[in-house]
Amino acid sequence: MIQRFRNPRDLSLAAAGLFVRSAREAIAESGRFRVALTGGTSPSGLYRLIAGEPYRDQVDWRKVYVFWGDERWVPITDSRSNAGMAFGTLLKKVPVPPEQVFPMWTAGTRPEEAAARYQQILQANLGDDQRLDLVLLGMGEDGHTASLFPGSAVLDEREKWVDSLWLPGQQMHRITLTVPVINAARKVAVIVFGAAKADALRQVLEGPPDPHAYPSQLIRPRDGELHWLIDDAAGAGLARESP
Ligand code: 6PG
Repeated sequence: MIQRFRNPRDLSLAAAGLFVRSAREAIAESGRFRVALTGGTSPSGLYRLIAGEPYRDQVDWRKVYVFWGDERWVPITDSRSNAGMAFGTLLKKVPVPPEQVFPMWTAGTRPEEAAARYQQILQANLGDDQRLDLVLLGMGEDGHTASLFPGSAVLDEREKWVDSLWLPGQQMHRITLTVPVINAARKVAVIVFGAAKADALRQVLEGPPDPHAYPSQLIRPRDGELHWLIDDAAGAGLARESP
């Protein structure tokens, strides 16, 4: 489902409503809400909204379990840290029990070890069905999502749940959920706004299948919901109106 909004603010308001609804549904059904947060800059407005009224008190934070979709291999204090951004905009402002928040730690171990450890954490904290309730994603101007970058070997990983990669363009290691974990989720919401992403978004949503060039094409939940939340600027290149 593609939802189109006039601007990032309206998009973030809709995403906050989706977050709260997803939390309430999951907690009603299983007693827990297991969510994987995205990094980047797009979600900061959403996180600030959720951390405030009226959204904050609509979530039973005692039952929320927070994971990440990916992380840059930098200290959590580094301004590029996805966990650092989420703590600053959301997690320090809501009463989620710290023991239920699982950053992809990037201190003291090698990326591949951290990825393997994170897979164990996920498997230990997801329910019997081993599914996340909601995966929040962004999309880069090159069509990547999480740290599933064009041309990277991780795009073809179907066994591991979490993998690490070296990103030459950023001279940085990344840790990322893999395609099977994301596509096993009950809901996936991709937040895309800004004109800079219009070309990639058109390729992802309407272009020929070319997932190694446009990895966001790989995001197809097996039997979960896929929500594209886009603004008019990012959707300017789309031929068809939102269904
Ligand atoms: C990351 C993110 C990444 C992000 C896109 C969009 O660690 O970089 O997880 O997948 O969602 O790069 O980033 P912006 O929201 O900053 O445009």
